Amino acid sequence: MIFEERLKRHHDELRWLYMELYNNGDMFAELCENLHDFAVKRDTELMHLDLEREQNPDWFRGNDMLGMMLYIDNFAGNLKGVQDKLPYLSSCNVNCIHLMPFLESPKGRSDGGYAVADFRRVQPELGKMEELAALAKACHREKINLCMDFVMNHTSEDHEWAKKAREGDGEYMSRYFFFADPSIPQAYDRTVPQVFPTTAPGNFTRLEGTEYHVMTTFYPYQWDLNYRNPRVFNEMMYNFLYLANQGMDIIRIDAVPYIWKELGTKCRNLPQVHTIVRMMRMICEIVCPGVLLLGEVVMEPEKVVPYFGTVEKPECHMLYNVTTMATTWHSVATKDIRLLKKQMDIVNGLPKDYLFLNYLRCHDDIGWGLDYGTLENWGMKEVDHKRFLNQYFTGRYGSSESRGELYNDDPVTQDARFCGTTASMCGVESALYEKDEEKLQKAVRMDLMLHAYMLTQSGIPMLYSGDEIGQLNDYSYKEDEDKKADSRYIHRGKFQWYLARNRKEKGTSQEQIFSGLSKLEEIRRSRDVFRSDAAVYTYDVKDDSILCILRENEEERFIGIFNFSDEAGTAWMEEPGVFQNLITGEELELVNVIVPGHDFVWASRKK
Ligand code: GLC
Ligand code: GLC
Repeated sequence: MIFEERLKRHHDELRWLYMELYNNGDMFAELCENLHDFAVKRDTELMHLDLEREQNPDWFRGNDMLGMMLYIDNFAGNLKGVQDKLPYLSSCNVNCIHLMPFLESPKGRSDGGYAVADFRRVQPELGKMEELAALAKACHREKINLCMDFVMNHTSEDHEWAKKAREGDGEYMSRYFFFADPSIPQAYDRTVPQVFPTTAPGNFTRLEGTEYHVMTTFYPYQWDLNYRNPRVFNEMMYNFLYLANQGMDIIRIDAVPYIWKELGTKCRNLPQVHTIVRMMRMICEIVCPGVLLLGEVVMEPEKVVPYFGTVEKPECHMLYNVTTMATTWHSVATKDIRLLKKQMDIVNGLPKDYLFLNYLRCHDDIGWGLDYGTLENWGMKEVDHKRFLNQYFTGRYGSSESRGELYNDDPVTQDARFCGTTASMCGVESALYEKDEEKLQKAVRMDLMLHAYMLTQSGIPMLYSGDEIGQLNDYSYKEDEDKKADSRYIHRGKFQWYLARNRKEKGTSQEQIFSGLSKLEEIRRSRDVFRSDAAVYTYDVKDDSILCILRENEEERFIGIFNFSDEAGTAWMEEPGVFQNLITGEELELVNVIVPGHDFVWASRKK
């Protein structure tokens, strides 16, 4: 039987790693039995998909993937609503949707759904588990992939394990980090940085009415799970497989660098984390080989890349291109592409089988994780520069038209992050407010230029729902008791269907962005030169505001030129041959190309 074959392929390594971490043969045997049960329970259609994908392991590496992340309630009310809206998503060229967290999570203590109280129950307002499975089937009929989060670092304090632990049940206390002696939490705090220094300071929470402190790296109601306990690992793997079996194509492993803790360390990216992710990858390949793992590692490149594992021992199938995202916005503010060029060179130098998920915005804040070593050589100091970026994007610097808010403004480290939608950051919000048509055109141009740049990169582009129509910041979270302390809700507003209708009204900002994006997506999808295996280089065009990218395969040479300045500039270059402007269809020569402010060129020629 196929399960036995798949198990056999990985058994020795899986057992080795498991024993190294847990040294518990009985628990390993139990894990294997459960893997078998989940494998045979898998729906026949999913089993077919598994086989198909096993035979074509590069199925997700083409140039035809386009993702969108969305909140079920904001976008369509509930799961059924999302199913009804699949035609809209297809009209956006989207063939992969990431449903933001939707499992049961206590109201007001949910961290946007990232505090899960029951891994096997959908939040009742959003629907039922059967509806999730039905949505997955409907997606598969439309050739759409479905992605969900697996929040494995912590559970909600309302999870049944947490409730039992709070009641003093030792078995369950051992699934978390409980300390009666306050000196241990204090010792951890000496080396562990804080994720939410303002909204949820510290890494521990004193449990009222008890003598205990429990580890809470994120919010106080998110209790960190203790993966030293094999019961935690096994049970969480069963939850993972249960969710995979609802028909998921991609599972995003949330906050993965944090899952192993060790006193005296930063409790991030410890070697055991990689052991666990490697085991998850094997478990996937044994039970549900059609499922991909997307790791959420919001860190500098040296920390991110190890999560791909090695060729023989792969870990995640894909990871977020987070530094490129943050550096893109840095380039917007400074109008200086040198760091972005450097960052692109780093990414382009990585093995082609490392697949990145590219994005401009997501549901989280933008942390200014830049290469400050390099910036300092150019006279930009970390603290000052972060302050400048935040001033710029809140519209308080020079002629900046950007709008948005700070996030976790830490008075000690001065390390505020930033929240806002792409369109508001590009100036669409202020232009519409001022009813200034010229400013609006500039803002729309910048928005499209940034998307064009994002779509030029290798990997999977992931749009943030609303960005396809230039949705603006939503300030209504300030009136909601449960949300007002967390400014990430500024870019988590309800999808504005009444504005989405404008996408068909010529001349509206919605139409310009929507049709501009569609054009780019169609070009990307129809040309092999956008595949991840194409060669990609940056090109020095002697202007620090203009980034030039070359993509090349055997048939075609593609050139993308992006002007990050608001003024026209010249890309000093001399490319032999006649190119075609892919947007207008016209022929052009790439000799000292003049690019208007915040505009771009997509050109190509057959070889
Ligand atoms: C991830 C999510 C973020 C959440 C955190 C804690 O980083 O993206 O929204 O706050 O995990 O689960
Ligand atoms: C930090 C964490 C990341 C999380 C984010 C939430 O960046 O590293 O995991 O998504 O905070 O704001």
